[in-house]
This record gives sequence, structure tokens and C-alpha cells, in this order.
Amino acid sequence: MPLFQPPLAPLPSDLTFVTKTIIVTGANSGLGLAATKHLLFHQAKEVIMAVRTITKGEMAKSQILADRDVQKGTLMVGLLSCS
Ligand SMILES: NC(=O)c1ccc[n+]([C@@H]2O[C@H](COP(=O)([O-])OP(=O)(O)OC[C@H]3O[C@@H](n4cnc5c(N)ncnc54)[C@H](OP(=O)(O)O)[C@@H]3O)[C@@H](O)[C@H]2O)c1
Repeated sequence: MPLFQPPLAPLPSDLTFVTKTIIVTGANSGLGLAATKHLLFHQAKEVIMAVRTITKGEMAKSQILADRDVQKGTLMVGLLSCS
């Protein structure tokens, strides 16, 4: 059976995260890092980067905060291991 991905509706242009606290798992790289940046860019009130290696999380946080476009809201790093 072929895999089928139905088309997704575009996100509403007035989508806002200004009142939201969001936890992103695997936030120090890949999709998690990209999602964290995206949420801050869209003015999330608070994003918690849930990582299994705090030093990697803090490095990723520094990288994100160096980007002027995403310096909004609060960004925290927390320990989470799913192993
Ligand atoms: N369905 C699809 O089309 C599709 C497409 C792309 C990706 N994916 C899936 O989406 C996920 C993320 O992809 P990605 O490219 O962003 O991967 P990635 O760059 O390898 O990132 C994985 C993240 O998960 C963390 N992680 C891995 N094992 C963990 C554990 N046991 N406990 C806590 N954290 C753990 C890693 O932390 P460390 O840095 O400490 O290792 C890293 O932050 C993967 O599962 C991938 O298979 C699916």
C-alpha cells in the first residue's frame, strides 16, 4: 500500500503564541532546534528546551539568542531523557 500524506491547510496568518508556554523535546538539534526558533520568532511567551545533554542545550540556546529575529519571550533549558 503506498504511503499517502493528505494536503495540510496553511497555518492561519494570525496564529500567535504570545500566551503560550511550550516544551520542545530534542530541542538542541534538527527539527527540535528549528521548532524552538520558529516558536520564538512567533513571539511564544516561554519555550522550554527539553534535552538529554544540558551542555548541548545551553550551546543551542546561545546560538538561538544570537539571532536578533528570535530574541523574544523566555528560553530555558531543562533535562529530559527518553531512554
Ligand atoms: N516522518 C518524517 O518524515 C520525519 C522526517 C524527519 C525526521 N523525523 C523524525 O523526527 C525526529 C527528529 O529528527 P531530527 O532530524 O531533528 O533528529 P536529530 O537532529 O537527530 O535530533 C534528535 C534530537 O533528539 C534527541 N534525542 C535522541 N534520543 C533521545 C533520548 N533517548 N532522550 C532524549 N532526547 C533524545 C537528540 O539529543 P542529543 O543531541 O543529545 O543526541 C536530539 O536533540 C527523529 O525521530 C526523526 O526520525 C521524521
